[in-house]
Amino acid sequence: MRTHDRLRIAIQKSGRLSDPARDLLARAGLSFRESRDRLFCYGESLPIDLLLVRDDDIPGLIAEGTCDLGVVGQNVLEEQALERLEDGRGEAFRAIRELGFGRCRLSVAVPNDWDWPGPARLEGLRIATSYPQLLARWLRGQGVAAKPVVLSGSVEIAPRLGKAEAICDLVSTGATLLANQLKETATVFESQAVLVAPSTPFGDARADLAAMLLRRLDGVLSVRASKLVLFQARRDAVPGLLQLLPDAEPPTVMAIEGQDNQVALQALCRSAMTWQRLEDMKRAGASGLLVLPVEQMLA
Ligand code: PRP
Ligand code: ZN
Repeated sequence: MRTHDRLRIAIQKSGRLSDPARDLLARAGLSFRESRDRLFCYGESLPIDLLLVRDDDIPGLIAEGTCDLGVVGQNVLEEQALERLEDGRGEAFRAIRELGFGRCRLSVAVPNDWDWPGPARLEGLRIATSYPQLLARWLRGQGVAAKPVVLSGSVEIAPRLGKAEAICDLVSTGATLLANQLKETATVFESQAVLVAPSTPFGDARADLAAMLLRRLDGVLSVRASKLVLFQARRDAVPGLLQLLPDAEPPTVMAIEGQDNQVALQALCRSAMTWQRLEDMKRAGASGLLVLPVEQMLA
């Protein structure tokens, strides 16, 4: 029986979510000692350990209480939640934060040379997928009857092997579809990495550890998108300039020695500053524009 004075987080051992997940936890101040088998990493800076596993195992590990938190794609989480629902098992886990990386979509793809009048094109056909639940829900919504063919991997070669006519698989860059002469036709589910937790809150020391980790993660996540914008402008241009910064916190306005009409402003923006936006601001009277990355933030 494990003691509950340490928190255990499951992340993908190797795959597209592993590096960004480890990077996120490192930015939240977590450091680990790697074990020889590299499956368990002991938390050094805090009593928070890592378990490196297959992404598909993460929801189950949370459900059975082997791990306390996990980083996994919404695609895997939602698929397994629907599966539990179908089997009459109760809700056991839920996503508590969207993490902003690992973005991909679950899409239907068909051979390049097919015409695509719409989802009705799939009527009566076999669709290879590793996500039968998400696919079935989408097909129901479209009013289309097709047969999911469940494959655990290499879904993209199913049409060439004669196992299915179409596929429903994850698409990120689109390179896999391109290499297999398939074209993406309809999006079934949009996904990104999420932090997953048990549906029932922790009733012990893990609650405080999880709350602290969440506070830090929230800081890291909002810092990622945020930029500090510094500029000068005439006082009468300020209201117009602030309209160009709808996502900014109320700015700090500072007087400039010897220049009564001119002020210096500092605003924290919650989303990306584009060149277009900077040019719009310059046109609206801003000068000396500086955009700085934010290193740390604690609200
Ligand atoms: C997905 C999917 C494709 C590939 C698509 O697998 O099954 O093989 O990624 O990506 P692309 O559009 O950039 O080519 P993934 O690597 O996520 O692994 P898993 O689903 O087996 O966990
Ligand atoms: Zn997987």
